[in-house]
Amino acid sequence: MLQITTALPEEYRTAPPDELAERIRVAKATLGERLLILGHHYQKDEVMRWADARGDSFGLSRLAADRHDADFIVFCGVHFMAESADVLTAPHQQVLLPDLAAGCSMADMADIDQVEAAWSEIAEVTDVERVLPITYMNSTAALKAFVGRHGGAVCTSSNARRMLEWALSAQSDRRAADKVLFFPDQHLGRNTALAMGFEPSSMLVWDPRRSLGGLADVEVKEATFLLWKGHCSVHQRFRTEHVAAFREAHPDGLVVVHPECSHEVVAVADLVGSTDFIIRTVDAAEPGSVIGVGTEIHLVKRLADEHPGLSVECLDPSVCPCTTMSRIDAPHLAWVLEELVEGRVRNRITVDDETAADARVALERMLSIS
Ligand code: 13P
Ligand code: SF4
Repeated sequence: MLQITTALPEEYRTAPPDELAERIRVAKATLGERLLILGHHYQKDEVMRWADARGDSFGLSRLAADRHDADFIVFCGVHFMAESADVLTAPHQQVLLPDLAAGCSMADMADIDQVEAAWSEIAEVTDVERVLPITYMNSTAALKAFVGRHGGAVCTSSNARRMLEWALSAQSDRRAADKVLFFPDQHLGRNTALAMGFEPSSMLVWDPRRSLGGLADVEVKEATFLLWKGHCSVHQRFRTEHVAAFREAHPDGLVVVHPECSHEVVAVADLVGSTDFIIRTVDAAEPGSVIGVGTEIHLVKRLADEHPGLSVECLDPSVCPCTTMSRIDAPHLAWVLEELVEGRVRNRITVDDETAADARVALERMLSIS
């Protein structure tokens, strides 16, 4: 969807933090109940302090589906999350993303043309009626619409196992699928399938740049999981050496990582789960615990600040922010809120009706099963 970006006015770029905070406070108070600010856990504190609700991508999509009271939802997260919110909200609600450049490099690794082409190629070598597409939330609305049209569903890092189990079991409206095309994150797909007890040989990587994904006909026929060759540039930085170094420094420490990390890292971690799971794990830790976390640095820092009785550290000492999440900052938030007060809607995210209808099917399947 074409979006017209308006450059952030100079006055916001140069305003000192205290002034921006005061302007956000006043604009938020003026908009009152008409405004709902949602914040993903990877947001910076200067943004997160204003969020009416915080969550992982699953929790925020549920909030968007349930909260039909606010006219404006300012989504402090990335583009695919705001698109999903637009699909799930009521027609009178408008979703705004404070900076339209806040995308997701993983979501960009699968586009609709590539997925349609993959589907046609798979159909040439196997019974495509027995294949179910599952897309990670981190994907465009066009991909969610594709899976909605083909009987599949969306998943997030907190319900991927439930959704894969659903895909591979018979439902009232269809036979069990015997194959899943999972995109765009190969790691979430692999980690989940291995945790379900599948053999590594049952999951093959589909490379969209190569003919038939770089696989032989027989491999496509026999694989249970075709895992799209995509990854998160933030989470793939974590390596087993980081875990080993943490364990050497803290033999009694706990290692918890996000399932977008490689399987090698997940295999040596104590626990694996979504951002919300990581937060609950830290919240439940005994005082004095030392916890090494493999996820985005703004969340890890916030956890450390909010738990002075624990030692919470990032497994990667060189620190890994999600640069696109970081684009949402106090200047952009102040700008979109003050513009709303003036009656101007900036950076609205809209999904066209046809795409939204199919994407809603895939998102609502996830919400009803989770
Ligand atoms: P969650 O599903 O844990 O919110 O993760 C979203 C994400 O983008 C992680 O990189
Ligand atoms: Fe995308 Fe990775 Fe950033 Fe999550 S952390 S929004 S998957 S680039």
